[in-house]
Amino acid sequence: MSALTAEAVARRLTTVRYGRSLELRAETGSTNDDAREALARGAADGHVVVADRQTRGRGARGREWASPAGTDLYFSIVARVPLTPARLPPLTLAVGLGVARAAEARLPGVEVTVKWPNDVLLNGKKHAGILVESVSLGGRIDGAIVGIGVDVNRESFGELEPIATSWRRETGETFDRAEALAALLSCVEAEIDRFVRLGPRAVASAVEARLAYRGEPVSVDGAEGTLLGLNEDGALRLRTSEGERAVRSGTLRRATPRPAGES
Ligand code: BTN
Repeated sequence: MSALTAEAVARRLTTVRYGRSLELRAETGSTNDDAREALARGAADGHVVVADRQTRGRGARGREWASPAGTDLYFSIVARVPLTPARLPPLTLAVGLGVARAAEARLPGVEVTVKWPNDVLLNGKKHAGILVESVSLGGRIDGAIVGIGVDVNRESFGELEPIATSWRRETGETFDRAEALAALLSCVEAEIDRFVRLGPRAVASAVEARLAYRGEPVSVDGAEGTLLGLNEDGALRLRTSEGERAVRSGTLRRATPRPAGES
């Protein structure tokens, strides 16, 4: 076991670019804000900001991301991807796939699934979330900020207990955060590069193979149906009472069964 230090991460890195330039902070507001500032200062592709604790960690749709010290990973990557804003949304799925692959390699016997579009689950409970923000210049992206929070060694989740978990909770083991971060950066770099090289189709099919709630009744912001899978752009395919439709954004939920007798 080692402390989370920049030197410990550097010793374990196997990436080409990600994490080769890395700032580690004991405490910060949000690493996404720090990475955005680094991007504006001209930081290279793959520059990483990681914090032991965030005081204003944020999740998708303005939600808070709890970020206590000493147990988990909160980091943001400056990704200078050559994409237009319209081609950016599947990037979140590519990152989720990278996080899922890193978890799969370390947690044998644990079911790892991707809950569209930005969560990674262990045995059905959330342990990681992704928040991609972008900075545009004219019609193209100057850079994306890829924010990733992973519950690695957290032991308790308070009122989120029924829906949240960590690597430690699923295995009983304590993980070396420097090694975990190096592994996550390696898998995320590989998946983002593959997405940029080949487009969304390869990402969508690999995510579809690990897609949470596939074949189950779900709802996405008012639309209800059976979750069939993903189309080649990474949109959700839903079979609704009016036929099949593609859903490009929204919050996916398992449909709650209606009480008997209600239609
Ligand atoms: C979500 O599941 O809603 C996304 C959570 C993203 C959390 C990470 S932690 C590192 C980075 N900094 C933030 O403020 N948010 C992201």
